Amino acid sequence: MTQSRKLFIKTYGCQMNVYDSERMAEALGGNGYDEVGSPEEADMILLNTCHIRERAAEKIYSELGRYKELKQAKPDLKIGVAGCVAQAEGAEIMRRQPMVDLVVGPQSYHRLPEMEARAGGREKVIDTDFPEEDKFAHLAARPKAKRGPTAFLTVQEGCDKFCAFCVVPYTRGAEVSRPVERILTEARDLVDRGVRELTLLGQNVNAYHGQGPDGRDWTLARLIRRLAEIDGLARIRFTTSHPNDMSDDLIAAHGDCDKLMPYLHLPVQSGSDRILKRMNRSHTRDSYLRLIERIRNARPDILLSGDFIVGFPEETDNDFHDTLRLIEEVGYGQAYSFKYSTRPGTPAAERAQVEEAVKDARLQELQALITRQQRAAQDAMVGREVGVLVERPGRMPGQVTGKSDHLHAVHMTADLNPGALVRVRIESSGTNSLAGVLV
Ligand code: 5AD
Ligand code: SF4
Repeated sequence: MTQSRKLFIKTYGCQMNVYDSERMAEALGGNGYDEVGSPEEADMILLNTCHIRERAAEKIYSELGRYKELKQAKPDLKIGVAGCVAQAEGAEIMRRQPMVDLVVGPQSYHRLPEMEARAGGREKVIDTDFPEEDKFAHLAARPKAKRGPTAFLTVQEGCDKFCAFCVVPYTRGAEVSRPVERILTEARDLVDRGVRELTLLGQNVNAYHGQGPDGRDWTLARLIRRLAEIDGLARIRFTTSHPNDMSDDLIAAHGDCDKLMPYLHLPVQSGSDRILKRMNRSHTRDSYLRLIERIRNARPDILLSGDFIVGFPEETDNDFHDTLRLIEEVGYGQAYSFKYSTRPGTPAAERAQVEEAVKDARLQELQALITRQQRAAQDAMVGREVGVLVERPGRMPGQVTGKSDHLHAVHMTADLNPGALVRVRIESSGTNSLAGVLV
């Protein structure tokens, strides 16, 4: 018998990290760890980190600083750093924070249980290799733990696009797709455990080209159609996509696959051709707009979401206005926007930087526009009938809350359990959510 110990995992960054953290918690379950909600109770603290912007990386060091007293009070406490900061900085983390016992990069998580067993005391353990094997195939799931109605499932990892601002190709490595059979097995298992909605994850998920049971490479669209055959699975989503990999069959799936939800995250980053070129995005403003038109032809009510970077090196006022005009032309239901942040080792880090005050002003202006669009898209749902997957009890007694097909949060008064899929007529639109009644 392994002794029972307590694990606290703190997750930063993207949904892929959320998925990885779940898998790491399950794998460490085999070493006798149960997850707890606070670092004070823990025998092991694991930070699953993000390196995408400077501030994300700096947060890790200040968080580690906070654990100093805990470690002094409990010398057996193990502290581990996983994720993209671990990959990018490796042993440097232990130089800056000697109390860290273990550093593990995203491609080595299947080695974590063995690493955990070795780490502690004077023993420091690091693994930031890019091994050949499929780490997820080696990460054991704890059998039959009940799950909530929604789950992430990583199908693809890494990126070969090398946008000039982005660390992902360096921290997550080259594009790798998991084989179809493994994904189907995992999906069926999740559905058996109560999952009704799957979000397929990948840094470049629509570039998916995993090996199918027929020995051929399958596209994401083909994988989605196969997953849609699983009884009990009601909804499928995927994120994040690159415009250049939005193939005809994937666009068609949005039109004719009922389980594929009408929401698409399709980052464009900038609306200026000059900047897109400098970003090495390999698409233009116009090709993106034409793509959006084709997607909307296939699925007219699709809600679009995007990512935008303001203040990329050499971005002028004109470039920025091109981005605002593109946003106006597309009309997003939701979007994420960021000030450009220099990342060591990426091509754009060497170029003439835009002043911080200019970045601030641009971000504010862009976010104000996005907020208006978001609000308008949400308000436009009032009076419509939508599908809602109930996720949890609401804030008010007698209420439940869930997500609509278009990914809006919806509250209603109803006696329903998580996992119920219902039709709801939307009656009002609040700041960040809709309210409706059962049909
Ligand atoms: N600075 C600011 N934003 C960035 N992103 C990626 N790298 C950077 C960077 N260096 C944004 C992009 C991407 C999202 C995940 O993060 O918009 O789509
Ligand atoms: Fe980064 Fe570009 Fe790859 Fe997205 S497509 S992960 S922004 S390099």
